[in-house]
Amino acid sequence: MARPSLNSGAPLTQEGQRAKISLQSIKQLQWILQHLRPHRWLFASGLLFLIVGSGVSLMFPWFIGKLTDLVNGKPIAPWLGGLYGLLGWLIAVFGIQAFLSFFRVLFFVRIGEKVLYDIRSKVYENLIAQPIRFFQDQKVGELNSRVTLDLSYIQDTITTTSAELIRQFLVIIGGVFFLFTQTSTKLTLIMLGIFPILIGLAIFFGIFIRKMARKAQQKMADSQAVLDESMQNISTVKAFGNEWYEIKRFRENLSEVVRFGIRGGLFRAMFSSFIILVVFGAIIGIIFLGFLEVQKGNLSLGSLISFITYSAMVGASMGSLSTLISDFQRAIGASERVFEWMSQPGENIKEPSIGFQPEGKIILQDVTFAYPTRTSHQVFKNIHLELLPQEMYGVVGKSGAGKSTLAQLLLRFFEINSGSISWNGVDFQNIPLVDLRRSIAIVPQEVLLFHGTISENIAYGKPGCSEEDVLEAAQKAHVMEFAKTLPDGLQTMIGEKGAKLSGGQKQRIAIARALIKKPALLIFDEATSALDNESEKMVQTTIHELKGTCTMLIIAHRPSTLEVCSKLIKISGNGSLEVVKNENNLSEVLESFKTEK
Ligand SMILES: Nc1ncnc2c1ncn2[C@@H]1O[C@H](COP(=O)(O)OP(=O)(O)O)[C@@H](O)[C@H]1O
Ligand SMILES: [Mg+2]
Repeated sequence: MARPSLNSGAPLTQEGQRAKISLQSIKQLQWILQHLRPHRWLFASGLLFLIVGSGVSLMFPWFIGKLTDLVNGKPIAPWLGGLYGLLGWLIAVFGIQAFLSFFRVLFFVRIGEKVLYDIRSKVYENLIAQPIRFFQDQKVGELNSRVTLDLSYIQDTITTTSAELIRQFLVIIGGVFFLFTQTSTKLTLIMLGIFPILIGLAIFFGIFIRKMARKAQQKMADSQAVLDESMQNISTVKAFGNEWYEIKRFRENLSEVVRFGIRGGLFRAMFSSFIILVVFGAIIGIIFLGFLEVQKGNLSLGSLISFITYSAMVGASMGSLSTLISDFQRAIGASERVFEWMSQPGENIKEPSIGFQPEGKIILQDVTFAYPTRTSHQVFKNIHLELLPQEMYGVVGKSGAGKSTLAQLLLRFFEINSGSISWNGVDFQNIPLVDLRRSIAIVPQEVLLFHGTISENIAYGKPGCSEEDVLEAAQKAHVMEFAKTLPDGLQTMIGEKGAKLSGGQKQRIAIARALIKKPALLIFDEATSALDNESEKMVQTTIHELKGTCTMLIIAHRPSTLEVCSKLIKISGNGSLEVVKNENNLSEVLESFKTEK
């Protein structure tokens, strides 16, 4: 599936893709490190515990070697305290490690959670500030799951991966040091000669395994998108009896996941038997050489046991490195994506209000506009439009002419290509979005309500408003008529997206939500088109009652809704519009659009 590109035009990197570790990518990690700053002391303590813990763990093979020598009749240093002394030392090694690792895990997890809190809320802040076009450009479900996934990779890195990586490196370096100084140089050199070959082969397998994993992840995201989409449109799916169609679609994507998963598994299986065969073969060979050395008297049995234990430790660390490094790369890839994503400029939602007073005329001057995703089609070409205060305009034009587009431009959901829009002489560019959008309310055709009570949904129009405000808006919008009949009145819970209400009832709540803002410009975008006669009448009554309180744009098709408007904005559909007086020829005007279709 082709991925949509971000606003910058830069293609999205794929899910779970690992970045090459380069200076550039490390720099992007800085963005995360920046969030670590406030926790640097905790981080440093965790790091200290980590280093001390790794150092202590390296003592274990040494003590085991001494223990072997002791029982083998070889003299050992008196400060080790004999058999029971050594037992004490070994217990101390584990005890200290247990203590240190408890706090290390605690510290890193604590930091991880806090850093992720910061990053998550910043990401959300940035997401919600994105302009409308951003959300039209991509599948939001896919975006959500990707960001969630990316952030979890980053979290893993902060809480475990980076600590583990450091620990394993320390074990390798320390282990090799002890191998050289405390055991046999010859055996150590042989062992170290074999490792690079093994690592090279491991990388070779790793490439294939990762490729398959990436493809499987991609397909997983696709099937997730099917799932999200069908859940969101569940009533459509059911109404068409398309459950099996969706199940089939889901399964098709899922079986691709399985296919790539299994193919990845093949390489993994080959890899693991390769490891067993070659690695264990090498180990046995070296151990055998070791025993020969012991037999010749070049090495004590204790040193050999130390050698084996150190080698096992170093080997295990090296083995885990490849997974850790790839996890680390994945986190860098994730942070790159999140970073790239975060650098998408959003709308300026932080700009403070300038106390803009929405009075006077709204003037569109020479406005030309084409949707950014469809630049070839100019919805408006050099249009001129003046909206007088408290005037009521009907907006007419055939479907696709640009009626909703006009509303979107007034809300500044999209930026115009040329010309200007001003309100009371102030250019839209100079009106902070908070001020602008506080002054305008829109009632769309398809009302989406939030899960909550009717009252909460109305209050959404003006956070922090009083109960009286809600009641007033509810009365004006004729919500009370039906709310009264419900057991809990305005406090009635409505289902997800308003599922428990009729279209007309939802519409009235939407109107109340708009009215509570006391907007200076109120737009009805085909708000009555989908309603039954009675509900439509109710909405029309509301519109009548509102006449003269604010500027109104009523996008509609039915003469009965448009009658009340004194002027009509006729949108031709070829880029122009004109404003005419609403005379007694409404049906004719509307009819003319129908025949044009
Ligand atoms: N988000 C969008 N991206 C690209 N083109 C769009 C978008 N929304 C609407 N259009 C196109 O712009 C034109 C005007 O659409 P619109 O204003 O929704 O018409 P209507 O008058 O029916 O409300 C149509 O040709 C439509 O296909
Ligand atoms: Mg429309």
